[in-house]
Amino acid sequence: MLINGKEEAVKSCLSPSELKGQVFCYSSRNVSKRNCCFTDFCNNETLHLYPRLPLLVQRTIARTIVLQESIGKGRFGEVWRGKWRGEDVAVKIFSSRDERSWFREAEMYQTIMLRHENILGFIAADNKDNGSWTQLWLVSEYHEHGSLFDYLNRYTVSVDGMIVLALSIASGLAHLHMEIIGTQGKPAIAHRDIKSKNILVKKNGTAVIADLGLAVKHDSNSNAIDIPVNHRVGTKRYMAPEILDDTINMNSFESFKRADIYSLGLVFWELARRCSVRGIHEDFQLPYFDQVPSDPSVEDMRRVVCDQKLRPSIPNQWQSCEALRVMGKIMRECWYANSAARLTALRVKKTLSQVTVIKDVKE
Ligand SMILES: Nc1ncnc2c1ncn2[C@@H]1O[C@H](COP(=O)(O)OP(=O)(O)OP(=O)(O)O)[C@@H](O)[C@H]1O
Ligand SMILES: [Mg+2]
Repeated sequence: MLINGKEEAVKSCLSPSELKGQVFCYSSRNVSKRNCCFTDFCNNETLHLYPRLPLLVQRTIARTIVLQESIGKGRFGEVWRGKWRGEDVAVKIFSSRDERSWFREAEMYQTIMLRHENILGFIAADNKDNGSWTQLWLVSEYHEHGSLFDYLNRYTVSVDGMIVLALSIASGLAHLHMEIIGTQGKPAIAHRDIKSKNILVKKNGTAVIADLGLAVKHDSNSNAIDIPVNHRVGTKRYMAPEILDDTINMNSFESFKRADIYSLGLVFWELARRCSVRGIHEDFQLPYFDQVPSDPSVEDMRRVVCDQKLRPSIPNQWQSCEALRVMGKIMRECWYANSAARLTALRVKKTLSQVTVIKDVKE
């Protein structure tokens, strides 16, 4: 814990009020574990990592990670698998040129009450100077399946597998979008870059939403958004029609949530195509693969989505499977040109949880 700004290890039982945000479980091999391990620190209490680990602890963690292999490259930096005390962690390394993106993402992940089973678990941020340049690290939980994009390219999913994935993605998005009022509350957050590459698949078949670098927070008291917003920041292929044709109302935070929902519908389409029923499924494709070139411009997208009003096609055979029929209906209701008519993340979540209930009743 931090005592007078210095990091000190105290081996004693602490009261729950002393535990909050100040302590993490050194005895646990897994830093993201929040339950007491009942060994060194005998707290017999649930340890809270939020609002965040003390900065010194974050630095200590980052500096004892051994990088193992590079696992991917994105617009900002490279992602590595690293080892920390025998556990795998993911390390996203930004160059100092992208400092603002690093800072923004670290800041978003450390929003009070953000932690959720369907949001990527943040561990630490650190800046390391090796003498010649500065490396900016963002450490998070590691998920060996990689992104939903990687996963769907490799595997098909069962009906149950599809619903579990869809429900967990909707739950993560509903949590982001929701404002929780109170001192331990959280602001509403819009993601602004929902796509299959920014969702990771966990070992247990559920998913987490990652990449919060473009997200915006809403202050409901002042009705202000926390950063000046640049309207076309996401991935062009997944941009909502109102972003493509620049008719989005930037003064209303609702607009950003509605644009996320449109992108969610596209992710569900990618997922449902890979759902195998009696051995029948589609190959993996990105949305609008048959309408636009591989790196589409805003203009390419606008022509298809706004002018021609096209949306990804829904295969006829989805009508013969209840879960796929529901998924198809949800997608259409996420894709309306009129953003106010779209479903909310909470509604999507409720509809999907009923699919599971109906199935349970039948069994
Ligand atoms: N926590 C993680 N666990 C496992 N793999 C991860 C993790 N974070 C990222 N990856 C892998 O690293 C890849 C690169 O991630 P990154 O977010 O940098 O770029 P991207 O999402 O592919 O593209 P973009 O820059 O457009 O967001 C991902 O596609 C995924 O395969
Ligand atoms: Mg990404």
